[in-house]
Amino acid sequence: MTVNIQLKQTIDNSYQISIDKLKSQKFDSKVAIITNPKVAGLHLSHLLKHISAKELYIITITDGEEFKKQETVDMIMQNLFNHKFNRSSMLIAFGGGVVGDITGFVASIYQRGIEFIQIPTTLLSQVDASVGGKTGINNKFGKNLIGAFYQPKHVYIDTHFLSTLQKREFSAGVAEIIKMAVTFNKEFFNWLQTHNLNDGDNLKTAIKKAIQTKAAVVSQDEKEKGIRAALNYGHTFAHVIENETNYTQYLHGEAVAIGMVMANELAVKLSLMTAQEADLIKILLQSYDLPTSYKIKNIETFYEAFFLDKKSTDKKIKFILPKHIGDVEIKNDINKAILLDILNGFMIHD
Ligand code: GLY
Repeated sequence: MTVNIQLKQTIDNSYQISIDKLKSQKFDSKVAIITNPKVAGLHLSHLLKHISAKELYIITITDGEEFKKQETVDMIMQNLFNHKFNRSSMLIAFGGGVVGDITGFVASIYQRGIEFIQIPTTLLSQVDASVGGKTGINNKFGKNLIGAFYQPKHVYIDTHFLSTLQKREFSAGVAEIIKMAVTFNKEFFNWLQTHNLNDGDNLKTAIKKAIQTKAAVVSQDEKEKGIRAALNYGHTFAHVIENETNYTQYLHGEAVAIGMVMANELAVKLSLMTAQEADLIKILLQSYDLPTSYKIKNIETFYEAFFLDKKSTDKKIKFILPKHIGDVEIKNDINKAILLDILNGFMIHD
């Protein structure tokens, strides 16, 4: 005997991303702002001028990727239960990628799902992490291995919050902007070559172009069954570099910059792009003082570390390789000898 459960339905998870000065928001429900002490110290008073709610709570989590873990999720949920949050309550993620990922994850599981809003305060989270509904936490097996695709109700991008960003953090965000242009938008790449993001309204324009590019990808492939994986360009190499350096030497965007240069060398080797195109990308990264080189100590160890990446399935490593500039190819059949040859170029040679 078989019983069918008919679940075919069209779910509209569409939402808007406002790139503008933050406007006043009034909520008729309970709201919790999840943030960290650094962001709260710098910007909470500004945010609170714009938010009113039936009941408003601030939940502060410790800053740092190492706190994106189950214990922090439990602490946040404990607070929500204590304050009797229910399915009509709202969470606001106010911070960078860690705050956004963990808030979104809590929103996805608290009482089987409540709404959340993203108000990202770093450039990296404004152009990438806050858009597209990737939420999650880390565990001892790796980064973001527990989580859900769970879309926010709205994303509010206000460049006011970037005024306190350190130069390195700004550049790390620019790396993700360049990533978006190289993989999907040649015109945007050309624009980036001629427009300094420190000047005038250029940053706002670049944020808009990067988000439009990402939104088009996410709209086609929300759950990363195909083309969305291309947004991980540079990340296969970057994750190994971050791991080898214990997440202390490079900001994520900096490791991605090095990873893009490595991916480009592989793409040149496979004749997917020219050496001149790879140089143009390197020059653009360097113009924002992003690192573009890394000294590999042992290429075999580096190679083996690829397989720890959760996106490597069945002993196949997934590489996102640019096809010229503005297009991309996803490959998982790259010969080990070719890879070792590329890694050898980054070896320390005495
Ligand atoms: N950061 C890559 C993605 O959202 O798919």
